[in-house]
Parts: sequence; C-alpha cells; structure tokens
Amino acid sequence: MEKKIAVIAVTAAFLALLSHALVFAGETAYRFDPATQSSRAMEYKNTWEGYKLYQSNCKSCHFRGNERGAQFLDTDSRTMRGWNAVFYKKNVRCARDGSWAKLSPEDLLVINDYLYSKAYDTWDPRSNKSCG
Ligand code: HEC
Repeated sequence: MEKKIAVIAVTAAFLALLSHALVFAGETAYRFDPATQSSRAMEYKNTWEGYKLYQSNCKSCHFRGNERGAQFLDTDSRTMRGWNAVFYKKNVRCARDGSWAKLSPEDLLVINDYLYSKAYDTWDPRSNKSCG
C-alpha cells in the first residue's frame, strides 16, 4: 500500500515537471501594441523582419562612435514598455525630424516587435531565451 502511494507521488511530481517543461518550451510572448490596439505574437517572422529593418534604418545612425550625434542604442537600451512608448509617442528627436519617414507603419510595428522581444527586462531565469 505504502509503495503504491510512493509510486503515485513520484508519478504526480514527474507529470507536474513535464507540464511545466511543455509550458515553457511552447511559450509565445505577446506584445500589446498601444497604437493599433492589437496583440502581436512575438514570432520569428516579425522579429526577424524587425531585426533587418532595425539594422539598416536605426543602427545606420545609432552605432557606437557615429558622427550623427546619435547615442549608441541596443535592444536593451529600453524596457519592453519603454520601446512601446518610443514607437507610440514618436517623440524622440529622429522620429520628429523625419529620419523615420521612409519607414511604413508596418515597418515600425515589426521594428517595435523586435526591440520589445529583446528589451532590457525580457530576461527570464526560467527560460534559456537570453543564453544564445
Ligand atoms: C539619421 C540618423 C538617425 C536614424 C536613422 C535614427 N535615429 Fe534615433 N536618434 C538620432 C539622433 C540624432 C537622436 C538624438 C540624440 C540621441 O538622444 O541619441 C536620436 C534619438 C533616439 C532615441 C532617444 C535616445 C535616448 O536614449 O534617449 C531613440 C530611442 C531612438 N533615437 C531610436 C531610434 C530608432 C528605433 C530608429 C529606427 C526606427 C532610429 N532611432 C533611427 C538619429 C537617428
């Protein structure tokens, strides 16, 4: 009888662990976009597009040692909410002086997705997201 209970306890503990592992492995993060009032899945297809647009349109000025007067920026220069605010308010100098003009609203959405997905406060000790 006692042995049976022990087996049940071990099985239950194992199942609990397994279900956690599955939850973390399959976790999709979402970003609520204040401008479009929609929830955006942080998936490879948009964050990858965003990464490319960020590299070619934002990093073209915001690289270390640039002579355009732009601070060095990285994905962790802002928190998740901080990046949302940059794209929602558009009140940083470059957004106001027309440096973002050739980017469409869709471009800005995916750049925001990318930066949000790697923002300062996205590190989660329960996942391996920041280990790569
Ligand atoms: C033509 C050059 C240029 C481009 C392109 C550009 N920026 Fe800027 N950005 C600046 C300058 C100049 C400033 C004002 C100085 C500063 O604070 O870095 C600025 C300021 C900022 C700031 C405020 C910096 C801070 O920490 O307070 C953020 C955030 C920012 N830019 C993000 C972006 C993003 C995101 C993109 C791409 C969508 C972008 N920038 C594209 C030149 C540029």
